[in-house]
This record gives sequence, C-alpha cells and structure tokens, in this order.
Amino acid sequence: MAGRDVLSNVVSSQVELHRKWGGIVPEAAARAHVEAILPVLEEALPDDMGLEDLGAIAVTNRPGLVGALSVGVTAAKALKALLGVPLIGVHHIEAHVLSPYARTSAFDDAPDGDHVCLVVSGGHTELVAVFPASPFGYAILGQTIDDAAGEAFDKAARLLGLGYPGGAAIQQLASGGHPTYTLPRGLSGDTLDFSFAGFKTAVSRLVEKEGDALRAADAAASVQETICGVLAKRALLALDEQNAEALTVVGGVAANRRLRELLADGCARSGRRFVAPPIELCTDNAAMIGVAASFRLAAGERSGFDLEALPNAELPGIS
Ligand code: KG4
Ligand code: ZN
Repeated sequence: MAGRDVLSNVVSSQVELHRKWGGIVPEAAARAHVEAILPVLEEALPDDMGLEDLGAIAVTNRPGLVGALSVGVTAAKALKALLGVPLIGVHHIEAHVLSPYARTSAFDDAPDGDHVCLVVSGGHTELVAVFPASPFGYAILGQTIDDAAGEAFDKAARLLGLGYPGGAAIQQLASGGHPTYTLPRGLSGDTLDFSFAGFKTAVSRLVEKEGDALRAADAAASVQETICGVLAKRALLALDEQNAEALTVVGGVAANRRLRELLADGCARSGRRFVAPPIELCTDNAAMIGVAASFRLAAGERSGFDLEALPNAELPGIS
C-alpha cells in the first residue's frame, strides 16, 4: 500500500485444503500458513521495491484462529525487528469495514461521510455505523445471534450436496431456479439483529422431506432469496434509522449478485449511495488490512513486540 493506494494484493487461497476436509481444520490451516507466508511476502513486493522500502508493517492479529494468526504476527514482528519500522496489528472486521477506502486502478469509490456497513462473511454478520471523520469510530447496530450469513450459505450448500465454500455454488445453481420453497427468515419485527439457526434446520428438513423430488435449483434460489432478502431488509432499515448517506457491503457474501442487486435497488429508491468494492476486496485479502492500518497509523497508533494473536476481540474504537 501507499496510503490507501493498493500496490499489490496477493492472496494464497486455502479453499482447496478446506474443500478436502469439508471445512476449516485449524491445525491444517496453520501449517498451510507457515508454508505460504514467505512465498507470499516475496510475491507481494512489487518488482521495483525491496523490504527496505517498506515504511510500516500491518498484520491481522484478531479475531480468528490463533494458530493461523500467529504465523502472520510472528513474521510481522520479525520484519519490525529487521527493518526498524512501525508495526500495527489490525482487527479483521475493521479491515473488512474499511475495505471500501482502498483505491485500485479499477475502484475509487469510498463513501464521503458517515455511513452504514453490512459485514457479511463466513464468520460474521454485522451492521456497523461508521463515522470516518475525527474522532473516527464505529457503532455496532446489529449482529447475528447465532450463525453468520456465510455459514448459512455453506451449511445449506452442504445439505444440497454442493461443495465447499457453498455461497458461490448456491449462486450458480440458483441462476437456473426460482425461489418457490418457503424458508424461515429468522427474527421478526424491526430488529437489526439476525438469526440463521432455524433457517439451517428448515433446509435440512426440506431436503429430508422432499428426497428425490427436491428441485435443487429452486431450493438453491430459495436459500439465496431468503438469506439475501433478510440481509437487505435489515441493512436498508439501518440506513433509514441512521439517516446515513451511503451503504457499503463487505465480506465474502458481498460477492453475491442477488444481494448486491437488492441493496442497490433499495439505495436507489431512497436516493442513497451504494458502494460495493470489487470482489477481490470483499473476500479476505491483504489490501484491506493495509487500508485499516493506514487509518490507525494516521491516528498515531503503533503495536509493540508484545502484539498477540487473539481468538476473540470487539471491534475497536480509536483511542
Ligand atoms: O470474508 P470471507 O472471504 O472469509 C471470512 O472471513 O469468513 O467469506 C467467506 C464466505 C463463505 O461462507 C462463502 O460461502 C461466502 O463468503 N461467499 C458467498 C459467495 N462467495 C463467497 N456467499 C454467497 N454468494 C457468493 N457468491
Ligand atoms: Zn473475512
């Protein structure tokens, strides 16, 4: 990164590994991180740059699988020791929330002021009010009380016999179907929280009950329409309640075309801006960590050699 400009954004995907195991096995994921970290570091450095050109090191240290996070944190501390540059530990969800501030040759569309962010990934489903002006901060407006939206996609995909990760597979199958099956939408009323546990049980029951008669494409379309419908309804409600000027959507599930369509339509109806970063900035990536770090470094924050990998951590404010 140079400020918020993305110089390179290398992703070493572990999807094949997770597919083999049908999900994430922490020990296997950590080992794969160990193998990938140095080659990724080398590939990420632009041809005309060396390590000595780096002005700061950013690393995700929370929340997540400690084994995998520790690999990055240890490498980042080694670089800090070697280069004598500032180190900054970044909260994974803060990085997703700030990913719309990344600038690439294809994307430069950050919201101007206060806005609402829908964070939808494999592990998180949150509605966050973002206040980018000084003092910079966030407020959590709503979140899932059980499963995340991505988890709901992945579990439904598994029940329908599709591979891992499930979201993209459901989207593809859904394109040839119609949402003719009725599935539960979780919590009722004007809440900004989400619940997908009952949804998962209902998909399981539907698959069992229909057996060979199940119309798979229609089931996929129903899964997609139900999850995206709930996400869009709550996100647009939050936008109204906050009277915010823009809505952003981030995280792996933000790659979903139907979700983007519902959010874009809703924003257009109420005359608000809708910002959806390109898919490579939505799914887990290094650029978003760099963007979040640029905000934190500008606020004067630094991490020391005592920086730890943490399994759980609240979305931080700025002190
Ligand atoms: O943010 P992400 O890449 O990793 C986490 O931090 O979790 O999100 C991964 C999630 C998975 O659950 C995957 O099924 C979902 O994003 N996903 C999708 C699509 N592409 C990825 N969900 C719905 N539609 C998609 N096209
Ligand atoms: Zn993520």
